[in-house]
Amino acid sequence: MSHFTLLVGSTLGSAEDLADELAEILNNRGHHTVIHTSPQLDHILIKPEHYLLLISSTHGAGDLPDNIHPLYLQLTQQRPNLAGLQYLAVGLGDSAYDTFCHAIQTLDDQFIQLGATRVAELLTIDVSLQDPPEVIAEKWLDHWLSQR
Ligand SMILES: Cc1cc2nc3c(=O)[nH]c(=O)nc-3n(C[C@H](O)[C@H](O)[C@H](O)COP(=O)(O)O)c2cc1C
Repeated sequence: MSHFTLLVGSTLGSAEDLADELAEILNNRGHHTVIHTSPQLDHILIKPEHYLLLISSTHGAGDLPDNIHPLYLQLTQQRPNLAGLQYLAVGLGDSAYDTFCHAIQTLDDQFIQLGATRVAELLTIDVSLQDPPEVIAEKWLDHWLSQR
């Protein structure tokens, strides 16, 4: 059993719904999950060892949702050493925008710069496609769980 901390960036609720679905999948596989919808640095720098799962939509013109912006500021201003932190990242966006899924890419860049290790391919989900986000994300998560 592993511990997963899910940090959510969401404006209209879709990324939050997706986080709930992914937590349920992880719980059904016997893992322990905690979801934070007002993510803070304290939620990352915790024991026991845990995987971080970042889930964020993009708003404005490539901007982070307001609820995850405070975490981004803490990361850029305090520059904590995140060596040893293992994380996964999922973006929700719409390919009609030139700035498709920029928010999760911004967060991913920041985590990498601070020394964290992304343990699976960055998943970007285009909400204008037919498959529901949870179906795409479940396949991706199961693939990673079966390989680690
Ligand atoms: C005003 C507005 C601006 C958006 N800007 C972007 C964008 O720049 N890039 C992108 O990939 N998606 C963009 N989207 C699409 C959202 O990311 C997408 O609808 C997502 O599912 C919303 O998730 P949420 O409900 O968790 O906020 C935008 C949506 C709205 C309503």
